[in-house]
Amino acid sequence: MTIHIGAKKGQIAETVLMPGDPYRARWAAETFLTDAECVNEVRGMLGFTGTWQGHRVTIQGSGMGMPSLSIYANELIRDYDVQTLIRIGSCGGMQPQVGIRDLILAMTASTLSTPSRGIFRELNFAPCADFGLLHAAHAAASQRKLPTHVGGIYSSDVFYDERPDLNEQMQRHGILGVEMEAAELYTLAARYDRRALAILTVSDHLITHEALPSEDRERSFGDMVEIALTAAFS
Ligand code: HPA
Repeated sequence: MTIHIGAKKGQIAETVLMPGDPYRARWAAETFLTDAECVNEVRGMLGFTGTWQGHRVTIQGSGMGMPSLSIYANELIRDYDVQTLIRIGSCGGMQPQVGIRDLILAMTASTLSTPSRGIFRELNFAPCADFGLLHAAHAAASQRKLPTHVGGIYSSDVFYDERPDLNEQMQRHGILGVEMEAAELYTLAARYDRRALAILTVSDHLITHEALPSEDRERSFGDMVEIALTAAFS
């Protein structure tokens, strides 16, 4: 057990999928895993371990934002020796060619700051995805013929942004979408030599102001779970 995860050692698999929403973790475990067992309920941040095509997998909620994800990812890596961490979540589209419901595979994640900022000081560390996972996820998404973009995203600290000029700068520099977790996940994976990837569905759009209806969100979320599982074990 750790401060934030109630699972015993051995109850967490080497591969962990991390949706922001703990209820999504439960839905994914009930829908895709066999023999899923709830392994964490601390603070309602549900986690489940089960089997997918013979492989043990944990699906653990991360909460929203890098400080929350950082707590769970640190404990998963340092206390449970998790090797592969895949975020499955949503993002806001930032480019005209990126449509609502499209998938984004985050090759890099730019930020103003992460919880790890203090150790880098003046250095601008460039958090990036594990290439093997990225490659395998791209192959899985292409096989399903899902519209998919690969490139940089922006991990913001705020959903309600009072500095729209930052979004504009990200857009000018080709950033595909904005979310709030991936940069810290990638930074921790680099620090501890683990594999990480963020797979995102465009749930709202900063240019067109469209938003994905909730039924579509569930379908897109299911696609991401399948792509994440396929990538993790290919
Ligand atoms: N901003 C930040 N995070 C997000 C967004 C957004 O527009 N959409 C989904 N996650």
